[in-house]
Amino acid sequence: MPGTLALNDGSRLPALGFGLYKVPIEQTAEVTLAGIDAGYRLVDGARFYGNERELGEAIRSSGRRDDLMVASKFWGDPVQSREQAIADFADSERELGVGPLDLYMIHWPRSSRGAFVDVWRGLIELQQEGRVRTIGVANFEPDDLHRLVDETGVAPALNQVESHPWLPQHELRALHARLGIVTQAWSPLGRGRLLDDPTLLAVAAKHSVTVAQVVLRWHLQLGGAAVVKSTHPERLRQNLDLDDVALDDDDMAVIAGMESGERTGTHPRDRQ
Ligand code: A2P
Repeated sequence: MPGTLALNDGSRLPALGFGLYKVPIEQTAEVTLAGIDAGYRLVDGARFYGNERELGEAIRSSGRRDDLMVASKFWGDPVQSREQAIADFADSERELGVGPLDLYMIHWPRSSRGAFVDVWRGLIELQQEGRVRTIGVANFEPDDLHRLVDETGVAPALNQVESHPWLPQHELRALHARLGIVTQAWSPLGRGRLLDDPTLLAVAAKHSVTVAQVVLRWHLQLGGAAVVKSTHPERLRQNLDLDDVALDDDDMAVIAGMESGERTGTHPRDRQ
């Protein structure tokens, strides 16, 4: 079972969480309960995913609320402002109905609007008031992170960005290391498109494991975290079963050679 990573606010982040993006409403309860049962302790939700009510119901019925880190994100459209972030935080909390959130993030910087520093001040306020333990961002580019830190003095605990072997995000990872920010990958499997890649199939065959296990282990060996999604209980379990998948230097080098810059989701500058 993957461990936890230290965050810059003194708390810890489960290295692998399960994500609720694109999990259909009618499957949310079943998938959430299967994920908790498999051993996930980080639940990566968001207002935008449209399934917070069902997610909250499943968490309540699991009886495991206190064992979980529950996350949500501020969407920021149509209004990207401090006040809106605080109002949306309260809405997500109401919708989930599982008590105070553990982690709240800015979903996209929407940098052309010039408002994310103001939004970040709202999240800092929520944290200072003790309403949320950990605050972070998602999809922030290096320039955005510099602005946050320069203007508020508070670095996010984590930055959740698209990352997988096609897009290892070296520049961001190096900056995160300097600023004390954990890199958390979304679409860690490239939306599943990496699963039949011949290079990865060869590494998987060498270790007698699946490609998903190889790629998730690669994320952990880079020192990062990830949120992975599956609607199949067996795959949810498989994706946590990584203890015997130690990648050697050759494997890491072969996977490093896959970098192409290809994205499977939206570039942050294209979401304004
Ligand atoms: P499914 O929900 O049918 O299991 P990403 O996290 O990169 O966005 O990738 C998610 C995709 O990968 C989903 O389509 C999911 O499909 C698939 N997936 C997740 N884990 C596995 C696995 N262990 N084996 C095969 N497919 C997987």
